[in-house]
Amino acid sequence: MFKLENTKKLKTLLSLGLSLSLTTSLFAANGMSVDGAVKYEVKDGKYGPYHLNMQDTKNYNNGRAATKKEIKMWNVDVRPDGKDLPLYDMKHGKPILEDGKPKIAEGSVEFGEELYDAQCVMCHGEFGAGGKGYPTLAGGDFKNLHIQRLNPADENPNPDVAIKTIGSYWPYASTLFWYIYDSMPFTNPKSLTNSETYALTAFLLASNGIKVDGKEMDSEFTLSKANFNKIVMPNVDGFYPEVDTKDPHQGPKNMQKLLSDPTIYGKGTRCMKDCIKPKVEELLLRVKFDLAPNANEPLSTKRSWKEPAKAAAPDGVDPVVVENYATYCSACHSNKAIGAPVIGDSTAWAEVLEKGIEEVYSNAIEGINAMPPMGASTLPESDFKAIIDYMINESK
Ligand code: HEC
Ligand code: HEC
Repeated sequence: MFKLENTKKLKTLLSLGLSLSLTTSLFAANGMSVDGAVKYEVKDGKYGPYHLNMQDTKNYNNGRAATKKEIKMWNVDVRPDGKDLPLYDMKHGKPILEDGKPKIAEGSVEFGEELYDAQCVMCHGEFGAGGKGYPTLAGGDFKNLHIQRLNPADENPNPDVAIKTIGSYWPYASTLFWYIYDSMPFTNPKSLTNSETYALTAFLLASNGIKVDGKEMDSEFTLSKANFNKIVMPNVDGFYPEVDTKDPHQGPKNMQKLLSDPTIYGKGTRCMKDCIKPKVEELLLRVKFDLAPNANEPLSTKRSWKEPAKAAAPDGVDPVVVENYATYCSACHSNKAIGAPVIGDSTAWAEVLEKGIEEVYSNAIEGINAMPPMGASTLPESDFKAIIDYMINESK
């Protein structure tokens, strides 16, 4: 186990992007952090499993392989064509049933607004208008985008700044669904249901004046997998023209068309020589914060945590097992705070064991609810199972 010496540096770096109060509260939190539907303990302001330093070359202690469940929870990306958009509301990897049928995931603009006002407005402003130091989520006109793509040496550079928002810039609405699903609200990611994510997506699209089938989305408009592909974002052609065409001449033509479209790339005249004439110094980007010195300094590998005091092992029990229990499990299993079956509580363990021992092993290995896979330990499976046996024996 390692103490991270560079927490302070990391905080400073992060607070360049985030408001200080947010970072402070994130780091001050001593509790659990939800990731991939799994709760990880936070130690010294760090997620246990993520901040193990891997630069210790002696033992190649590279943590453990991600479990199937974790991969499934993280491996969510929704394609532009809507592939992998969820159809149902899910719980523990299975569709939620309503009157015996899987519950379709869907959400209205109105419901999205409610959710937004409760969970997002404090950072992103009313209707996504921004102004609170976090990204602006609405407004901006995609027609203005070409301003920032203009050659700055154009004779009449336009002083207006284009605002890149979901509505003006993002080519596909699927990105929005996925972004919210994966990472928002910032302080509690992955806490939204699929229906809530559809609702928030619908609300933010409506706030951006996006039309579906030529019509503005009103408050009753309900978004789901079924109608998602009807959304066409204004800037859908702003990135790549279709170049992979059947007719090999059509691709280059599409590219030419894009590059000579004055609404996208300025005046349509290419400049190949002496393009930047006036005031070069005004074009310089200045770096305000000096991130360079030691910016990539590796986190410390110093082993500076105290060895945990050795607990006395009961007769006939391998002291290593007891030690492992103390190191990896006791934080949660010695008290009822987060609902773990407490060691010594015979009723609680009898209930757990009703499932049969194999299922208990596999739940503990894969993780269940607030129980992290392998108890967030990096032990070999046999050592891990030995702790379970020990916990069960102590709870008879
Ligand atoms: C505590 C502040 C906070 C809250 C609350 C919050 N966000 Fe965010 N949001 C952020 C930050 C910070 C970013 C930028 C993250 C980054 O760029 O890495 C962001 C980015 C986004 C983006 C991407 C914007 C862009 O143009 O790149 C979307 C969309 C978004 N948030 C939606 C939401 C929704 C929906 C909610 C409510 C469910 C929400 N956010 C709640 C802080 C917050
Ligand atoms: C972050 C807290 C946490 C840690 C650390 C932790 N557990 Fe758990 N454990 C839980 C919680 C909470 C439950 C109850 C889960 C439920 O059923 O909702 C649980 C349940 C279990 C169960 C019963 C599984 C079942 O089938 O219901 C076993 C066995 C178990 N833990 C073993 C361990 C072992 C062994 C370790 C240490 C290597 C460990 N746990 C570390 C929180 C934790």
